[in-house]
Amino acid sequence: MKNKKSFSRRTFLTGTLTTGALAITPKSLRSNEDIFSYVTRHGPSSGIAKLNGNENPYGPSQKALRAINEASKKSGYYVHTSGETLRSMIAEKNGLTTDYIILSSGSTAALTNIALASIKKGHILAPDLFWDSTANLAAGISQNKLKRLPSNIKHQIDLGVMKNSISKDISLVHITNPNNPTGSVLNNSELKEFCREVSKTCTILIDEAYNDLTDNPKSSTMIPLIKEGRNIIVTRTFSKIHGLAGLRIGYMIAKPELIKEIMKFGIIGNWTTNHAGIAAAIASYNDKNFLSHSKAMVNEGKEMVMEAVKKNGLSALPSKANFIFVNLGSLNAGKFKASMAKRNIIISGIYRNHKNWSRVSMGKINDIQRYVNAMPEALEEIS
Ligand SMILES: Cc1ncc(COP(=O)(O)O)c(C=O)c1O
Repeated sequence: MKNKKSFSRRTFLTGTLTTGALAITPKSLRSNEDIFSYVTRHGPSSGIAKLNGNENPYGPSQKALRAINEASKKSGYYVHTSGETLRSMIAEKNGLTTDYIILSSGSTAALTNIALASIKKGHILAPDLFWDSTANLAAGISQNKLKRLPSNIKHQIDLGVMKNSISKDISLVHITNPNNPTGSVLNNSELKEFCREVSKTCTILIDEAYNDLTDNPKSSTMIPLIKEGRNIIVTRTFSKIHGLAGLRIGYMIAKPELIKEIMKFGIIGNWTTNHAGIAAAIASYNDKNFLSHSKAMVNEGKEMVMEAVKKNGLSALPSKANFIFVNLGSLNAGKFKASMAKRNIIISGIYRNHKNWSRVSMGKINDIQRYVNAMPEALEEIS
């Protein structure tokens, strides 16, 4: 009986936490509950170490919070002028004009439209592992496919193999750099050379969601190639280092002809965004203090995880992003995730068929400490 009880509690907890269905009880809102207490449900519940979303728990910055408060007062209106301001800021920073920049609801909306526009014309070519949600979605409703490169032991994107895999029926090459879930970054000059060559025959999409977390964001971006007039699209987001994941602001950069093509496929642009998100993005875009503090926290977290990985006899890929891909050796990443979830620590599960690789996102230092502390027990439990 005792066993049954503890089993069902554990199952309940694991199920609840891993599906993300955190405390959804609308009935209580219909009763006497103060509606403002509802705000506690907008992030992880207290006691949960959420290390599965590659978010920045230190965001929004103080400046962004102030801007959100002010801008929200005008939420009765659609976004227009403020969106233009953000587009101008992005254009200015990159030496482009605003017609090269389209805002979207997170970068997901832009990525989805890019995938839909491309799959209509041909297959999407991508590495074995990358942030594949949008390419998968498009491939799911088309006769054209998402074609993946074979995996390799180091989970590195092989640009030579990629180049040799390009045929006439490929309409888009999709690269995430730094990559997710691996955290690996491509060599800057090799990627540039690849892009210059391959963009002559098909469009290249570089998802730079984690660019700000690299050692040298300016030299690792492919945006300068867009200025050269190439067939290249770069997507960016305010969801990662800017700490605005819940405010859904992202953007794509490409030459105007390409943008026009992609705009036909769905809902992107200023009016699909929101005042709070735009205001926060404007406030944190050039907030050097906040960005460097966030980066320092990510780096501190990564050092802690790397040390724990080593101490526990494991290895991990070097990461230039805000997460680490840990090699569990002979152990199963799904079981590791469940074992961590029992301890209220939420991490990712298995990626494709790589059953022994486990991704942990950086988060608050205390939460990472909990992951580090739980690691020996959790590994022991699944051995
Ligand atoms: C590489 C990459 N691109 C894009 C996204 C989508 O993020 P958002 O829609 O919040 O910009 C994610 C989310 O984790 C990601 O990892």
